[in-house]
Amino acid sequence: MSTLIFATGNPHKVSEVNQVLSDGWEVRSLAEMGITEELPENQDTLEGNALEKARYVYAILGEDCFAEDTGLEIEALGGEPGVLTARYAGDSKDPDANMKKALVRLEGATNRHARFRTVIALILDGDEFLFEGIASGSILLEKSGTGGFGYDPIFQPEGFEESFAEMDATTKNRISHRGKAVRQLIAFLEDRTSKSPR
Ligand code: IMP
Repeated sequence: MSTLIFATGNPHKVSEVNQVLSDGWEVRSLAEMGITEELPENQDTLEGNALEKARYVYAILGEDCFAEDTGLEIEALGGEPGVLTARYAGDSKDPDANMKKALVRLEGATNRHARFRTVIALILDGDEFLFEGIASGSILLEKSGTGGFGYDPIFQPEGFEESFAEMDATTKNRISHRGKAVRQLIAFLEDRTSKSPR
């Protein structure tokens, strides 16, 4: 079994990534590694934040690890909230307040196109690699569904009639930004493992 440390304090993300992983891979969360502090996210891009979190954990543990940063990019709002997605309505990171702000800012808008973008930063033997996953869709007029987390109740992925919050976890993982980015990460790691001398 190959183990990777996932530099996140978000249990929803750990659970989604574990569901996407193929046999032979498992993720260890920061909590399992005894790290409970909030990770720094001071950069102005998703790439910057993902790297900052991965570097922070690598500096503490000295072990290969990856971090991810996700943003919701709403077309009619010029890509907002983007890197500010978690704190859109303030530092409390309250999902209901965040969704409400997005809905209010989109009132009357006919273009409701949006996408989730996940960037994964991997540190392997000190080298850094980035992976990206995108899920396109639209922002609903109101919340729908109670599953998932974050902005899931107001995001309807392209080609579906339900919001992410109305989908079972398997369906969301198959089409989601995070699912796509994690599958790229695993493909990269498997390719590298198959080429490395034994
Ligand atoms: P961060 O990547 O932890 O900084 O999270 C950014 C923000 O995006 C947070 O408000 C999360 O709740 C939200 N978010 C991240 N992934 C998802 C998702 O899969 N669905 C809905 N919201 C998400």
